[in-house]
Amino acid sequence: MEQTAKTRRTASLKTPSGLSEDAVRDISAASTTLLADVFALYLKTKNFHWHMSGANFRDYHLLLDEQGDQLFAMTDPLAERARKLGGTTLRSIGDIASRQRIADNDAEFVHPHEMLAELREDNGSLVASMRALHDTCDDYGDVATASLLENWIDEGERRVWFLFEILRGTNR
Ligand SMILES: [Fe+2]
Repeated sequence: MEQTAKTRRTASLKTPSGLSEDAVRDISAASTTLLADVFALYLKTKNFHWHMSGANFRDYHLLLDEQGDQLFAMTDPLAERARKLGGTTLRSIGDIASRQRIADNDAEFVHPHEMLAELREDNGSLVASMRALHDTCDDYGDVATASLLENWIDEGERRVWFLFEILRGTNR
């Protein structure tokens, strides 16, 4: 059967995952939004790593490098989950900007404690988004995405824990 140009354009990226069309749509859309958040938080974490200042510079600078590495390591597996399911994923920086729910911080100077407090809140939001996506995966029986999320939620909780403890007693 001869395919039309439109069919060829739209059919070529549909990976046959065995999950329902609803599952593919909902999980890949939520994964892509989550991926935009991860890139936004990765870059903010590196921004604060690069622009850290003050007495605890070494500790904070190194902590944020670790946390940035953790976030970056999520990006490729998360994007590839969307493709394995049969969905599509991010295509550009503009695509990230249009989807991200974690706000950028372009301020000229941010106090070290403000940096850590902002990251604590952002990582808390990211964990909440991952738990919500995990619920969606459970509803559709997508155990592989759920399994990846479980480790990422654990890592996110660890980032929040460290940031929370560092800020204990600072009023932030
Ligand atoms: Fe660095």
